[in-house]
Amino acid sequence: NWDMGQFIDLEVDKIREQVGDRKVLLALSGGVDSSVTGVLLNKAIGDQLVCIFVDHGLLRKNEGDQVMESLEGKFGLNVIRIDAKERFMSKLAGVSDPEQKRKIIGNEFIEVFNDEATKLEGIDFLAQGTLYTDVIESGTTTAQTIKSHHNVGGLPEDMQFELIEPMNTLFKDEVRALGEELGMPSSLVWRQPFPGPGLAIRVLGEVTEEKLEVVRESDAILREEIANAGLERDVWQYFTVLPGFKSVGVMGDGRTYDYTIGIRAVTSIDGMTSDWARIPFDVLQKISTRIVNEVDHINRVVYDITSKPPATIEWE
Ligand code: XMP
Repeated sequence: NWDMGQFIDLEVDKIREQVGDRKVLLALSGGVDSSVTGVLLNKAIGDQLVCIFVDHGLLRKNEGDQVMESLEGKFGLNVIRIDAKERFMSKLAGVSDPEQKRKIIGNEFIEVFNDEATKLEGIDFLAQGTLYTDVIESGTTTAQTIKSHHNVGGLPEDMQFELIEPMNTLFKDEVRALGEELGMPSSLVWRQPFPGPGLAIRVLGEVTEEKLEVVRESDAILREEIANAGLERDVWQYFTVLPGFKSVGVMGDGRTYDYTIGIRAVTSIDGMTSDWARIPFDVLQKISTRIVNEVDHINRVVYDITSKPPATIEWE
């Protein structure tokens, strides 16, 4: 069991010694690992840390702004935010295969990051939020790739940096403890897992602005009600998906023909297996009513009651 205060002191010294007066680059994703890495490095070397935050436009409602408010605003990190939504949307146009969507997003991410990084001068180090589990996993071979999990921060191959991985001896729960010790808000430290390809894999099939908006708004309602019910820490991951088919409904004295939203909420230890979360019916009822009332083009809400396996957590 680490004493996190001590860990911070040791790491800060180590980073200062390694970096000297040189500069470090970090890709921020908005996730826990890269954010904690950023705050720790900022504590050690301040403005010698340059962060690039590629906003692919596939984040959850207000997420990009919250990352900026917290990391740049509160902690004073030096963050370059790239609004790359148009680039990603144009590459995704007409593409409906899940694996192809993942590949496109992963590649585009590296390209945007690369384009921005090459504009910067005099960078010697690249920092990464690698955890101990990542170190172990990359040493093993998986027999079969079920989904190509793209994490942000893939390395452009032609870049010559020295790597800094200050958290590569830590487990996830220790990273959260470290974040708390550094004074980071619990909304960031306890953020639920969120896939690198973002909402693009929660709009099944081809991604359009309109469909992203439906997923983004319904997801925001779901998260708000899970928080209101005090269930944030009980449910491991929770989100909405847009399957993309229409069904008949009735509203007032009119017939509707509109989209269905799926709610996915699971309990899990590590994402490898999961069970569907037993969210109380009255909470589900409130979520359903709000989504139908507040989100345009939704006339039906369904709850996914499949475990993993045989289903996966995400629908794509
Ligand atoms: P599945 O859907 O495979 O998801 O049961 C297991 C966990 O992994 C997350 N996930 C991803 N994370 N890039 C990521 O960084 C991806 O492409 C990706 N696909 C799934 C998923 O949210 C869940 O936590």
